[in-house]
Amino acid sequence: MRILSGIQPSGALHIGNYFGMMRPAVALQAEGEALYFVADYHALTSLRDPETLRANSRRVALDFLACGLDPERATLFRHSDVPQVTELAWILSTLAPMGLLERATSYKDKLARGMSANVGLFSYPILMAADILIYDSDVVPVGKDQKQHIEITRDLAVKMNETYGQIFKLPEPRIQPETETVPGIDGQKMSKSYGNNIDIFGDEKEMRKRVMSIVTDSTPVDAPKDPASSTIFKLYSLVAPKNEIAEMRERFLKGGTGYGDFKKQLFEKLWEYFAPMRQRREEILADRSYIAAVLARGAKRANEIADRVMERVRKAIGLR
Ligand code: TYM
Repeated sequence: MRILSGIQPSGALHIGNYFGMMRPAVALQAEGEALYFVADYHALTSLRDPETLRANSRRVALDFLACGLDPERATLFRHSDVPQVTELAWILSTLAPMGLLERATSYKDKLARGMSANVGLFSYPILMAADILIYDSDVVPVGKDQKQHIEITRDLAVKMNETYGQIFKLPEPRIQPETETVPGIDGQKMSKSYGNNIDIFGDEKEMRKRVMSIVTDSTPVDAPKDPASSTIFKLYSLVAPKNEIAEMRERFLKGGTGYGDFKKQLFEKLWEYFAPMRQRREEILADRSYIAAVLARGAKRANEIADRVMERVRKAIGLR
């Protein structure tokens, strides 16, 4: 089984990225050949400062390694180290119906939030399909927001297979129901672009501030509160042991505890949860050549697979 996923280096990684994609991706390393990449080509649709892109890409690699990606078991690489993927994106685009892309909700959502409509943003799902198909991927661990992109990938693979004969496997999304959409501090999906993120590796003061800013309703301290609709409780459930989650639920239902106290409790647990990863991050940082070496090795392996698949594609469509 081949597992593949990517993450954009558009800023610091947040706990939505971690629980939605990185944690499941790390768990899947043991189940097959895993390939994970820093999606720098994709980030170009929104990030236009070369130094920031370079620094963010390195930082995403660092953070992913700190969160448990094991380069002895999984391949970590930079998107742009496999430029053949842009060739495949072009080939797929020649078969992609406009309507398929016009229905992409993430594109419509970005426009609604004021991003300018460039062609790259519009055709983003085609590049993402190429990312997945070029490695003959079976399984793609992602959060729910990426589900439609994987459906588009499957549609394009079917179109190619119908047109040119069997070229591509059909990949399956792997979405964890309990973490498919991690809420941000305003209760909406956590996202850097919504400004509601809690970063994994923010400093202590920053993380505390973000947690203390979680939006709550105006239920008085003494009154019972609804755990199911509370962002505090949802996030606590991701990081606390079962008995402590049950205890918090009871205290919500009983009343007598204010949201401020629950937030303090959540902060402590979150801070503790990521402590081993902060430590691992420091260790990686101490070895100055480590990240570059991991990415170089990853690029080599990713290219081996992509070259083989591209030969198959070129031959099938008449370019060889
Ligand atoms: P990106 O960089 O926006 O997010 C990386 C991963 O984190 C997940 N995620 C979340 N999951 C649950 N709750 C949240 N609040 C949350 N926020 C983010 C995303 O679902 C994603 O899995 N297009 C992709 C990157 C990409 C890719 C690929 C992924 C490019 N090519 C090929 C898989 C396969 C993206 O922008 O993810």
